[in-house]
Amino acid sequence: MKKPVIAIDGFSSTGKSSISKVIAEKLGLIHLDTGALYRGVTWFALQNCINEDGSISLEQLFSSFDQIELEFKNDNGELVLFLNHIDISKAIRSNEVSDNVSFVAKQKEVRDFLLHSQRSLAEKGGIIMDGRDIGTVVLPNADYKFFLTASIDERTKRRYNELLTLGIEADEQQVKENLIIRDKIDSEREIAPLKQAEDAIVIDNTNLTKKETIESILSHVKKI
Ligand code: DC
Repeated sequence: MKKPVIAIDGFSSTGKSSISKVIAEKLGLIHLDTGALYRGVTWFALQNCINEDGSISLEQLFSSFDQIELEFKNDNGELVLFLNHIDISKAIRSNEVSDNVSFVAKQKEVRDFLLHSQRSLAEKGGIIMDGRDIGTVVLPNADYKFFLTASIDERTKRRYNELLTLGIEADEQQVKENLIIRDKIDSEREIAPLKQAEDAIVIDNTNLTKKETIESILSHVKKI
């Protein structure tokens, strides 16, 4: 039986990645958190491509793509992201990366750089990919498309708690502002903006637990 290709898009901190991870386990699919790839490129830029005024040099970044090797490895069921063989899975969740990732992700060069590997991973089927443009651009022919949304206050609470769990210092108001700014930049960018695919199933999980959101998605997905 062919395994499905599932696209999960939506706003920041709607639980896309953690939900996709569980669904992948249940259905025996590969899970790709595409946001982590954009965060990985941003982290690389913050380490290696900085102008004298402290801003990110896009010119330097665009000429450094051949030095960026991003790879996920499975560590006891946890997907760990490596950049040039260094584990960056915690570093990419830092506030510094969160504050810069939307600026990096809106660049056409960056999106083109990451597009090919995302698509080629899905060629054999059996994958759940979460991000912002999966159902619209990366995998427009996905078997199932979902679009997750939740109120800004609920998303702030979730992101704040996630940071605390990771041992990263956080201020709730700043977390909220970061989410609002990122959603705005992600939705308004010219290339592959955050947008609900016309054929996506929308799930507002403001008042749903993670388990309920997963059940709702699974109720639509049958093995094909
Ligand atoms: O899912 P996340 O919050 O970790 O994603 C971080 C950023 O990466 C998000 O603000 C926008 C960008 N992103 C994107 O532009 N396209 C994707 N498919 C996934 C993420």
